[in-house]
Amino acid sequence: MTEPALLATVIAHRGASGHAPENTLAAISLAHDGGATCVELDASISRDNIPFIHHDNNLDRCTNGSGFLCEQDAAALDKLVADAGMSDFAGEPLPRLSAAIALLSKLQMGLNLEIKPSPGLEEPTALAICEVVRDSWPSDLPLVLSSFSQASLAVARDALPGAARALIVGAVPADWRHQTQLLQCRNLHTAATQLDENQAKEITDAGLGLYCFTVNEVDEARKLLSFGVNGVFSDFPAKLIRELSIVS
Ligand code: G3P
Ligand code: MG
Repeated sequence: MTEPALLATVIAHRGASGHAPENTLAAISLAHDGGATCVELDASISRDNIPFIHHDNNLDRCTNGSGFLCEQDAAALDKLVADAGMSDFAGEPLPRLSAAIALLSKLQMGLNLEIKPSPGLEEPTALAICEVVRDSWPSDLPLVLSSFSQASLAVARDALPGAARALIVGAVPADWRHQTQLLQCRNLHTAATQLDENQAKEITDAGLGLYCFTVNEVDEARKLLSFGVNGVFSDFPAKLIRELSIVS
């Protein structure tokens, strides 16, 4: 029986991404200002194997760059702006994972770091992320490495066995027990709209932590928490924390 890797009841999804450019240092700070104690961030690697915080394979939606992130060197990515055109955040940089960790450490926040490899880069992405985490994550703060990629999770399991892992799925697959055991995951992170109460009970009864994405309405959060879900990822963490009367 495993122990759940507990994060927070409300986790800021890509930072406070409902009000700030997603996956930026500003979104982390805003989540902290709104009372969040934990963020979820996505990470992938540059051509020269440096982890950056970014959701898409492509730079076009969230930055002033274009093309694939994995095809540019870190020095070029460092020059990009990731303000997503939000004037209040003009000039916000595309952050390296190391910069995000430095800020989270200063703010004493937990992290769910989603390993988001470009296709074909599952192994080097997980290895590069594990190296930065090993060198710089403060051991007293909550950390879970998660991924949709089983290949990346297997690499993380072997490279950094002490870090908690979570398998991310949309709908809960029939073989979730086998998959989480094989990858030695402590949590399962599932799509909120595709989880029912019986599944939630089976998963938590098996000793897994259970977190759901992406939950922006308080009624949906209440329903999931009543199922026994440990927490939810939200683009509007301050609103949920306030309306659920969560005290950290
Ligand atoms: O980690 C939970 C959630 O972030 C997974 O989906 O696409 O928002 O990264 P996505
Ligand atoms: Mg994510």
